[in-house]
Amino acid sequence: MRVSQKYSPSQISLHTTKKDCWLIIHGKVYDVTNFLEDHPGGDDVLLHASANGDASQKFDEVGHSSTAASLMEGYLIGVVEGYEGTAGGGGGPKRKEAVTARTVQGRKPPSSSSFLDLVLPVLILGLAFGAWYYLNFNSKAKA
Ligand code: HEM
Repeated sequence: MRVSQKYSPSQISLHTTKKDCWLIIHGKVYDVTNFLEDHPGGDDVLLHASANGDASQKFDEVGHSSTAASLMEGYLIGVVEGYEGTAGGGGGPKRKEAVTARTVQGRKPPSSSSFLDLVLPVLILGLAFGAWYYLNFNSKAKA
């Protein structure tokens, strides 16, 4: 098995049919054509994931077992070109950021913490200044 084989995203995107289906999961490329019928989650999800470019997120969302992880090693055919993970290395699926074959639309949830990130430091600074001002003013008033 040529697990050190590198595939470009455009090359991978040519294999999205029932007769020829590749998946990208955490920077690795899997030829799951012969697994489509046997996949407990059905062939549809794999075909959709293949067409979407990067199956990492969906794969993780399901919370696959270690059995699935060892099964997928048998379908490994290479890595995505430009991926900075373990090119050609063995082991299970790596939890590194994957290179997307195509732009995956609308996948990122809106960042809810960004507002707090901005307001919280300002609030703390304001409180600190208020405390300093109060203490200063208070001690001068008493004197
Ligand atoms: C080479 C890649 C994959 C392998 C070897 C694999 C293998 C498996 C196995 C063995 C199961 C049975 C449950 C378990 O042991 O975890 C399973 C279930 C499932 N898989 Fe995958 N899977 C792969 C990719 C994917 C992808 C990319 C998706 C989603 C896009 C997916 C979606 C599901 C779903 C929805 C189930 C059913 C879970 C349930 O009914 O509880 N799988 N898979």
